[in-house]
Amino acid sequence: MEVVIVPDAAAGGELIAEAMAELLRRKPDALLGVATGSTPLPIYEALAAKVSAGAVDVSRARIAQLDEYVGLPAEHPESYRSVLRQQVLEPLGLEAKAFMGPDGTASDVRAACEAYDKALEDAGGVDLQLLGIGTDGHIGFNEPCSSLASRTRIKTLTEQTRIDNARFFDGDIEQVPHHVITQGIGTILDARHLVLLATGEGKAEAVAATVEGPVAAVCPASALQLHPHATVVVDEAAASELKLADYFRHTYANKPDWQGI
Ligand code: F6R
Repeated sequence: MEVVIVPDAAAGGELIAEAMAELLRRKPDALLGVATGSTPLPIYEALAAKVSAGAVDVSRARIAQLDEYVGLPAEHPESYRSVLRQQVLEPLGLEAKAFMGPDGTASDVRAACEAYDKALEDAGGVDLQLLGIGTDGHIGFNEPCSSLASRTRIKTLTEQTRIDNARFFDGDIEQVPHHVITQGIGTILDARHLVLLATGEGKAEAVAATVEGPVAAVCPASALQLHPHATVVVDEAAASELKLADYFRHTYANKPDWQGI
């Protein structure tokens, strides 16, 4: 995997948005896998700015959701479908038909999960999957000890993740659902390019385990080590526990310009 250390979250957002723009210039109908949470916001802002500036045409882009709360109606302001409509689709000028995601309100959750994996496959697979990382090393909502071969399925959130996410629910953990549908780690690994952004000191330990620890289900993000094209973009604070930070800085500074991330 490639590790890129950037000065701050805005620089990470710009770097990744440019990689997405570059992909869309090559493949205008690319399927972009998007994550929610605080971390990817600078990416979405930078990409929307490029669209406004005419630097990239996203009109044929397609968007795929990574995970969704179970039981929140689609129109609930914190359903990830609503959040992505507001943070990604609307700023990019995309219509609902460009979007695909699992149905968090399905009466048969298992069937909804299988249907989503099939829909991703039928759509030709995800070209670039954005990922954040939990303080416990989760990607999507694959909490520690999730199978590294897992497909889209229902998962129970850890107490820590519910505490972390309570800020989106008026600070009230009771409002945070216990269950989510998440792409599995195996599903995520099917994407052609994985790009994980981590910012802030709170992510430093999880980033070190992901990048420099063993591949182990206890740190789900460490599965990125198995992917042929995985990029981990971290700000200085999130890089602070990396023993090989200088090596990563050196290799990125000296890579050929044409290579991109
Ligand atoms: C959300 C998701 C999660 C978040 C992670 C970090 O779609 O997939 O894995 O990326 O919980 O969340 P933030 O960015 O809010 O720290």
